[in-house]
Amino acid sequence: MSIQPHKKHAHLLGFIQHGVNSHAIGMWRHPKDKVNWDWKLPEYWQHMARTMERGLFDAMFIADELAPYNTYQGSSDACVKYGVQCPTHEPSTIVPIITTATERLGVGVTLSTAFEHPYSMARRLSSLDHLSAGRIAWNIVSSYSKSEWDAYGQEMTMRTDRYDRMEEYVDLCCQLWDSWEPDAIVADQASGIFADPDKVKVIDYDGKYFKSKGRHFCAPSPQGRPVFWQAGSSERGRDFAAQYSEAIFAVHPNVERMRQYTDDINVRLAKFGRPENSVVRIYGLQTVVGLSRGEAEEKYARIQEGILPEAALAWMSGHFGLDFSQYSPDEYVQNIEVPGIQGLFESVIYAKGGAPVTVREAALHYAQGMGMPIAVGTPADIADQMEHYMDEGGADGFMLIATNTPGCFEEFVDLVVPELQRRGRYRTSYPGITLRENLLND
Ligand SMILES: Cc1cc2nc3c(=O)[nH]c(=O)nc-3n(C[C@H](O)[C@H](O)[C@H](O)COP(=O)(O)O)c2cc1C
Repeated sequence: MSIQPHKKHAHLLGFIQHGVNSHAIGMWRHPKDKVNWDWKLPEYWQHMARTMERGLFDAMFIADELAPYNTYQGSSDACVKYGVQCPTHEPSTIVPIITTATERLGVGVTLSTAFEHPYSMARRLSSLDHLSAGRIAWNIVSSYSKSEWDAYGQEMTMRTDRYDRMEEYVDLCCQLWDSWEPDAIVADQASGIFADPDKVKVIDYDGKYFKSKGRHFCAPSPQGRPVFWQAGSSERGRDFAAQYSEAIFAVHPNVERMRQYTDDINVRLAKFGRPENSVVRIYGLQTVVGLSRGEAEEKYARIQEGILPEAALAWMSGHFGLDFSQYSPDEYVQNIEVPGIQGLFESVIYAKGGAPVTVREAALHYAQGMGMPIAVGTPADIADQMEHYMDEGGADGFMLIATNTPGCFEEFVDLVVPELQRRGRYRTSYPGITLRENLLND
């Protein structure tokens, strides 16, 4: 009997936002989007979470920004008018709703370090980790969009400054999370002693950006601290991710760019004394599955039909911090440094495999799935593409962008997951209990 070599299993995350529309622009008007579901109510989120758990996903990933984008024409009018990620509700509010409806599914929540003190952030995340029995991840972001700074009445700071501040922020949070010794709680009813104060450190932090003096208000949560996720892709962003994160998200337009990024992150891990491949690399992917290729192509055309050019331009302007209304739609997009999400700009530049891309083409391409590579076809076609990205690009898993919900996740779970399992590329049960166990041990 020959022994089959172990093939790497894929990790899967469902990429959504707590709002009317996630990251495929115009989906709220798709005829199959949220049919009989109200996104403002718990049942919709619980159904999606149960679907992802049925498909053994590691987690639901809740992206966020703190205010509607206002870059396009210097206003948020277009985002409001076309439902471009607006309205969007606060992301951590749905976390307990999701975790009470599930037992193993993790939840990654995007929370910005820009306007909240680390003390309350650490407390909130500990609380969520307790309530979920250890299934929380924190997507650490620092607010790249001017609209967020405007909304909070502050002058936007430079990228390097945001990263310096974020490092200090995470450092203070970690000190708080690590401040209770494991045996600090005695809970001796006879003597009335609940905890040993000698084992609960008073944090006295005096940094460049933050000061804090006091004890962490929460006892250690099941994971101790949330799983750290990061999606920064600039030089500083990659270093931050290599130093701190347990999973990295990135969007790369093709397998070559995935491979380059994979290799680059490995070099950076070494710089911070971490072993090769010790961070889980999750790459963005848009899938459109059909029982036949023709059916999938039809569905894909339907997704593209929903995108209005102005909505696309408003979204792209928001993400990159550049007002694309200043350019002619037929002008070619230049490969420049952008003030917004640098790491996603590459997907625009490579939208046509490296050939020049006009502003109109870039916006329409970006709006359909945030520049993620697109797998359109039968379950076997999609599994082929995923295997290729894992074997050649170094992907450890995929962030699946939401299109029409909850249908896109139902179809993926019903059709593609069994195909991946049949190929030995996907788990058949959760290997652990906490999110960290599931994410790092499979
Ligand atoms: C796949 C992906 C998803 C992201 N999701 C969010 C998000 O939900 N909220 C946010 O504020 N930033 C998000 N970002 C932005 C980054 O985390 C980061 O703050 C931003 O890219 C600026 O850092 P950079 O210039 O190092 O890339 C995302 C970036 C990528 C690549």
